[in-house]
Amino acid sequence: MKCDILLGLQWGDEGKGKVVDVMTPRYDVIARFQGGPNAGHSLEFNGIKHVLHIIPSGIFHKDKTNIIGNGVVIDPCIFEEEINALVKMGLDPVSNLLISKKAHLILPTHRLLDAAQEAKKGKNKIGSTLKGIGPTYTDKTARHGLRVIDILSPDFTSRYNALVSNHKDMLKMYEFDYTEVLPKMELNFFEALNCLKKFRFIDNEYEVSEYLDNRKSVLAECAQGTLLDLEFGSYPFVTSSNTIAAGAFTGLGLAPSKVGKVIGIVKAYCTRVGSGPFPTELFDATGEQLRTQGNEFGATTGRPRRCGWLDLVALKYAIMVNGVTEIALTKADVMSNFETINICTAYKINGEITTRFPSESDAEIEPVLTPFKGWQQDISQAKTYDELPPEFKMYIQYIEKETGTKVSIVSVGPDREATIFR
Ligand code: GDP
Ligand code: IMO
Ligand code: MG
Repeated sequence: MKCDILLGLQWGDEGKGKVVDVMTPRYDVIARFQGGPNAGHSLEFNGIKHVLHIIPSGIFHKDKTNIIGNGVVIDPCIFEEEINALVKMGLDPVSNLLISKKAHLILPTHRLLDAAQEAKKGKNKIGSTLKGIGPTYTDKTARHGLRVIDILSPDFTSRYNALVSNHKDMLKMYEFDYTEVLPKMELNFFEALNCLKKFRFIDNEYEVSEYLDNRKSVLAECAQGTLLDLEFGSYPFVTSSNTIAAGAFTGLGLAPSKVGKVIGIVKAYCTRVGSGPFPTELFDATGEQLRTQGNEFGATTGRPRRCGWLDLVALKYAIMVNGVTEIALTKADVMSNFETINICTAYKINGEITTRFPSESDAEIEPVLTPFKGWQQDISQAKTYDELPPEFKMYIQYIEKETGTKVSIVSVGPDREATIFR
């Protein structure tokens, strides 16, 4: 069996959580491969909305196995909160959630360092979610981070103290006063480790390989989106992990030859939270309309998301970097009352037209827009592709033609049921 990979192709929040939940019945295993509690993956069924941060979005299907891969960074406190919420719903995550021994831990001081570093950057701040993501991955690559497996070691506390002592030195350098907040955070952290210890810790590279050998189907779930990738996003306004398909190789121990479909999630317009370039951003009433109608407020931080038109330059780039084989298009229902809908088909940079996504994060980009007639009707109740209005079908066909990639799923609302498979 091959492993399918599901990715966000924009700046995150494309609707990955919803689509993974809808697709879970087709798989045996759902495995998250990177990111951490910076992610907020929402899904809805039976009229209730759920938001997951660290736990894979297949968790609501009791008979499916979920894996937190080695590429994920785990904050035990947030993990415990998520588990408690699931248990309250009558679920038993201990029975179907496995955790990589190699996943790194977010310590309280990682979160404080994130805050201190962002404060120091002033107006150049990245707009981090302040969940400690950057500092935790920094320690991982510097080879002194702490991993899930370490919490079972008798010298865990001394290793923790040694690392925290480094962090305190850094916090002092940033003139960040941790003395009042840290003791309570540490108390919570050590308490929360007891929750983590209830789960089965695994060598996920073996498990994933064995699942595939035994003809079990696996879906790898990405967090964030390609344009926030550490290598290929608009550096430095990115996250600290590989959000692209390659992230599944390193974040799960998946062999490249074992990849099946690469499913890219695309919002019918664009959003971004935090700082950094956003060529099609709308600063006018239309942007506000997208934000209000699309309820574009962060699932993790509650921050208003910046909104703009669909960007085909960026989308084609994301499809190329990931080798996307099919697209799931979400949230077109949000634009149901729009008379005109624009798509960016090229960039004008220094007077020159280009269809390449620039490496310079300070490039002055003017989007070249192609207008489309809006469908101007509610599509949220549509159950089949045939029911969709011709203007929306034209929008889809244009995306397919330009990207050379089939739109195989159309999501027309946040609920599980509001999904059209083609
Ligand atoms: P993720 O991070 O990619 O999982 O996306 P988020 O959950 O952060 O943000 C997507 C938001 O849009 C959530 O509030 C979803 O409930 C909602 N959503 C997902 N798909 C659709 C859709 O097709 N239409 C509408 N209106 N909302 C959707
Ligand atoms: P999901 O999985 C949208 C953004 C932050 C910030 C930058 C770096 O829900 O799509 P970090 O905390 O990672 O150091 O922040 O990345 N960011 C996201 N934006 N969706 C996400 O996740 C994000 N995770 C991080 O806003 O600009
Ligand atoms: Mg999100």
